[in-house]
Amino acid sequence: MPKISNKGNNMPQSPIRKLVPYAETAKKKGVHVFHLNIGQPDIKTPEIVMQAVKDSTIEVLSYSRSEGSDEYRQKIAAYYKQHNINVEAQDIIVTTGGSEALMFALGSITDFGDEIIIPEPFYANYNGFSVASGIKLVPVVSKIENNFALPPIEDFEKLITPKTKAILICNPGNPTGYLYSKEEMQKLAALVKKHDLFLISDEVYREFVYDKGIVHQSALSEFGLEENAIIIDSVSKRYSMCGARLGCLVSKNQEVIKTALKFAQARLSPPTLAQIAGEAALDTPQVYFDEVVEEYRNRRDTLIKELSTIDGVKVASPKGAFYCVVELPVNNAEQFAQWLLSDFELDKQTVMVAPAAGFYSTKGMGTKQIRIAYVLKKEDLIRATHILKKAIETYNSL
Ligand SMILES: Cc1ncc(COP(=O)(O)O)c(C=O)c1O
Repeated sequence: MPKISNKGNNMPQSPIRKLVPYAETAKKKGVHVFHLNIGQPDIKTPEIVMQAVKDSTIEVLSYSRSEGSDEYRQKIAAYYKQHNINVEAQDIIVTTGGSEALMFALGSITDFGDEIIIPEPFYANYNGFSVASGIKLVPVVSKIENNFALPPIEDFEKLITPKTKAILICNPGNPTGYLYSKEEMQKLAALVKKHDLFLISDEVYREFVYDKGIVHQSALSEFGLEENAIIIDSVSKRYSMCGARLGCLVSKNQEVIKTALKFAQARLSPPTLAQIAGEAALDTPQVYFDEVVEEYRNRRDTLIKELSTIDGVKVASPKGAFYCVVELPVNNAEQFAQWLLSDFELDKQTVMVAPAAGFYSTKGMGTKQIRIAYVLKKEDLIRATHILKKAIETYNSL
């Protein structure tokens, strides 16, 4: 039989989706599953987005320019300027989601065997993207006890080798909910400049910041990283448009843009209808974000309060995005998460969570942890955490 590649065999399964078959079986048995495993917001997409798609009069759904339509890129640049990120349309390549922007970034700056340093736990699909790109992720462990703050900068520095090409951060963090401070960003900026590295900054959750007086620090704001920074962005979470499959890569470094454009040309075009939707989304009134952020703030506060009532549970308090990492009083969180779906129910209800080990690349890390996405409304979060509490009690008495 023809053989599958090593790369294909090494491609990790998504920890967010790998328990799906168990959830499907539970649902077939009539059990309601509260999905805390995946960052699919239940928030409505802004009305003007859906309207723009309905009102579209295009007769041929053609390709757009590989870098995205001019109109859309101009509008994105204006959006960034409002966020203290001084970029122009020429600094932007529109992509099929933030996912493709990540692939283009890795494709543009790494060769086979190169290394990227990354604080872990990290967005699990970075593992998949790195396998697909033939590079090695070199983790620096951040700790639940410190709320997953940036590890000491020396921990990064001692891992830099001639193969190191970049540091990759996610800010605000998935799965940690951590938000890097100005001082932390300054330290990272000094490090990448000192060693001539790129800083890939995944900022797809930029607007999801919950505490008064705390401002999101973009890598392209004021850290002098014009040559070094590559921003990964997406409309998926910002406007609850995950299915539009629209994102972008942003850099002031024209070599990066020129190179990423070649990858963009190879796949021809980002989705045309999605760009119409994306353009309309940029007119979303501020009140939409105010309401959404308030909703998530409430959900975060509710979740943290409810989790604190469960004995033996440790939780890092999230400042942004809509995830948190929770350490459970069980030996193996993955087995527990599977058991929740296959063997447990409370009045015909159970919960699905993402085992956190898949958000680390160091073997053995995160085995007692899960990631919770607080993408459900408050009542459901309260019910889901109650089910989790009862489940832990039952599991530990088996
Ligand atoms: C941190 C982070 N980056 C990138 C992505 C990719 O998003 P998309 O491809 O939908 O834009 C996600 C999706 O969940 C994410 O959480």
